[in-house]
Amino acid sequence: MRQVKKLGLLGTGVIGGGWAARALHFGIDVVAADVKPEMEEWIRGAVENAEGALARLTLAPLPPKGRLTFTTDLNAMAAQVDFIQENIPEQLELKQRILAQVSRHAPADVLIASSTSGLMPTDLQQDMQHPERFLVAHPFNPVYLLPLVELVGGRQTAPAALDAAARFFTFIGMHALKVRREVPGHLTDRLQEALWREILHMVNEDVATTGELDDSIIYGPGLRWAAMGTNLIYHLAGGETGMRHMLRQFGPALKWPWTKLEAPELTESLIDKMVAGTQAQAAGRSIRELERLRDGYLVAIQQMLKQYNIGAGATLRALEERLYQEAAGKADASLRKSIEQGAELRLLETEVRPEWIDYNGHMTDSRYLQVFGDATDALLRYAGVDDEYRRSGRALFTVESHVVHKAEAKAMEPLYVTTRVLELDDKRVRLFHSLHRRRDEVLVATAEQVYLHVNHGKAAPMDAGLHGALERVRGAHARLPAPAQAGRVSLRPAG
Ligand SMILES: NC(=O)c1ccc[n+]([C@@H]2O[C@H](COP(=O)([O-])OP(=O)(O)OC[C@H]3O[C@@H](n4cnc5c(N)ncnc54)[C@H](O)[C@@H]3O)[C@@H](O)[C@H]2O)c1
Repeated sequence: MRQVKKLGLLGTGVIGGGWAARALHFGIDVVAADVKPEMEEWIRGAVENAEGALARLTLAPLPPKGRLTFTTDLNAMAAQVDFIQENIPEQLELKQRILAQVSRHAPADVLIASSTSGLMPTDLQQDMQHPERFLVAHPFNPVYLLPLVELVGGRQTAPAALDAAARFFTFIGMHALKVRREVPGHLTDRLQEALWREILHMVNEDVATTGELDDSIIYGPGLRWAAMGTNLIYHLAGGETGMRHMLRQFGPALKWPWTKLEAPELTESLIDKMVAGTQAQAAGRSIRELERLRDGYLVAIQQMLKQYNIGAGATLRALEERLYQEAAGKADASLRKSIEQGAELRLLETEVRPEWIDYNGHMTDSRYLQVFGDATDALLRYAGVDDEYRRSGRALFTVESHVVHKAEAKAMEPLYVTTRVLELDDKRVRLFHSLHRRRDEVLVATAEQVYLHVNHGKAAPMDAGLHGALERVRGAHARLPAPAQAGRVSLRPAG
């Protein structure tokens, strides 16, 4: 299977648009194909709409954005891409016909996946050429923010195709959940459908409104589900003995008529109740407004879960770790050269993101510390402080910072940071960062910072590898004249 640099999309509606935004954001080119030419404007708008939330998802250094092109020629798309994701309407015969058609134009090593919500891969792949490269890859709306993708193979799918697809989806920040065998609705839609059928019954029988049923989730179970799902949470409900006790205690309820599961008849009166209920909940807010609200909290939840390294937060953390490693890897060669030449290290390239701006239209104070912190991270990664090092309980804490502001940085202004190691002892290092505007090389700000090495929260000597790497940089920088703004902080004896 080839490395995916160009993703082909078949069908560019809600789900195709979401795939496009996610892939482009993580540096993959996209060729979007749809039978309707007017979908070009639509997909470009969808990508633009997603950008605000995506830009806030991670501050880790991203590769340059991918390029989006559009065509109504499905076969031409199939002939030029490395991976095809199908997102046309949920109709078995239509999907079978179009998948068979594009499979005749896509080289044999190009994977083809379907976003189908519930159709079986064995049925979808039956008329394809090279059906072994076909799988279901079922995402969730909004695809650009939700990491889950269910991977399902059909009877003819090669296990290697599932592995290669999982690698690609992980690369674009997703959690690939391999479904052991195909079942209608895969895993998540079966679970969602069970809840949904029960909701329809309760609304139909006037037991509750749509709003009350949503309240019954969002103030309680919904908060638990985001990180632990149903089973682990029920394990906790059983006290010290966990799931075994929980099943003994609540087992009898399984025989009681608590759920129906068979859906009610979708009558006009039920449809009216569902529509009136959700309109009342929307309270005059447009779909776009509600989407912005949803996207905002989905970003915030994932960032919060990242701190606990759990669920979608663990996915985001692993993605960021890779992005930082890649950036550090790219910087390594040029850093080694700079060290040999005794030059300052150019560690970070960034731009002033729109959400970094204060009411004066300039980069706000706290973001300076963030940018300087990212430069320190890049240096420490180069010197050997990676995720494994931190997991061992060792880290560097900031103990002192002194920032000098010299010039303004406006929204979208490209910036870069150069860094010097001024002083080092066995536990502490003093750094000096300079933030420059790329367009005119003007010095925007400087930061002088002292970091203390800790082991499980207590000051402790750095390990020899880390100390040696920083010492090499310090030695090389000792030949440079002292920066004019330096000397505000120093390595005084601790305490
Ligand atoms: N909407 C969701 O929440 C969701 C979530 C996960 C998966 N899915 C699945 O994703 C798929 C697409 O759903 P959607 O909501 O994006 O639908 P949609 O109606 O928004 O988009 C479908 C697109 O396919 C295009 N199309 C129709 N026939 C075509 C053809 N022959 N060739 C190329 N393009 C064609 C249409 O012009 C349209 O742009 C479905 O299989 C659906 O089950 C949807």
